[in-house]
Amino acid sequence: MPIFSPNKHNLQRAANLIQNGELVAFPTETVYGLGANALDAQAVQKIFNAKGRPSYNPLIVHVLDIDAARELVLDWPRNAQLLAEHFWPGALTFVLPKRGTVPDIVTAGLASVAVRSPSHPVARVLLQAAQRPIAAPSANKFTQTSPTRAEHVISSLGDSLMVLEGVCDVGIESTVLDLTRDVPVLLRPGTISREDIENVVGAIKLRGEIEYSNSSTAPRPSPGLIERHYAPRATLQIFYSSEELTQEEYGGDGWLSGALLLSSFTDLRNRFDFPIQMPNDAPAYARELYAYLHALDDAGCSVVFVEDVPPDCAWDGVRDRLQRASTPLKTS
Ligand code: TXA
Ligand code: MG
Repeated sequence: MPIFSPNKHNLQRAANLIQNGELVAFPTETVYGLGANALDAQAVQKIFNAKGRPSYNPLIVHVLDIDAARELVLDWPRNAQLLAEHFWPGALTFVLPKRGTVPDIVTAGLASVAVRSPSHPVARVLLQAAQRPIAAPSANKFTQTSPTRAEHVISSLGDSLMVLEGVCDVGIESTVLDLTRDVPVLLRPGTISREDIENVVGAIKLRGEIEYSNSSTAPRPSPGLIERHYAPRATLQIFYSSEELTQEEYGGDGWLSGALLLSSFTDLRNRFDFPIQMPNDAPAYARELYAYLHALDDAGCSVVFVEDVPPDCAWDGVRDRLQRASTPLKTS
């Protein structure tokens, strides 16, 4: 199937596929989602099959609004209400105790479910037309770089899916916040930062400050427990100073190198085959990041050097994705 423009006819067709237990790839403001009716366990199984995703990794359920979210959860705490009023629709996901109507396959057997109300108009019209909550992880094979363009979806998952066209303006996955505890816990950083959240609900905790199970078979409370994630085919190397960029690090004859640079290393541009000047503000950087990683892969780069990003919390989401994309694959 080719890429479908999100007109009324195609959106209705996509909604019918969701209602009939089939998959649809659709743009959200963060990244592309691979969606299925969240209340249909067989449909959700198709997501895991298409992605090659392990069953211990739970999905995010997309809903139109607070009322639709409340239908999926046992409890809607005050923090959820305050944060939803501030940030929904948008790139913030809440983990809350689930109702029995949410199939176990969606939550990998966990007693909690992740819910988010996306702001992208295509995602919203699809939710409206399908009249179902839509479970959707990023629309890529497990561990690969998430898609932010329709073409990225097709190159990862093939061309037998219906892919709706649209632009992902945020560019990295939503912030995931665990609201099942007394104090909220940030499970995955994103462009809605710790500071943004704390301005609304007061102090929160980071994942590292909490004990979570990390066994290989137990359900994973967060994607951060799978070390390598969001990874391009090329080796990604973060560098902190120009002295680290010795000639040997280029990999050898015939190797192509890419680089994602901020302003302090502009003078190094001509040392790379594909130097990319990245924006100096975090939201703009996040918007472009995955598209550049996909493009550098397509250009045949075997190594991508990435200038370290600034330390402040606005960059936490970008830094998290860069660090996880640069972790070597375990061979065992
Ligand atoms: O921006 C996004 O969140 C995108 C778009 C499509 O909405 N979706 C996305 O989904 O990034 P995915 O599956 O790639 O990441 C969802 C993460 C999972 O890796 C999972 O660990 C976490 O959310 N999650 C889901 N349910 C959870 C739960 N019950 N408890 C803790 N973490 C959960
Ligand atoms: Mg993903």
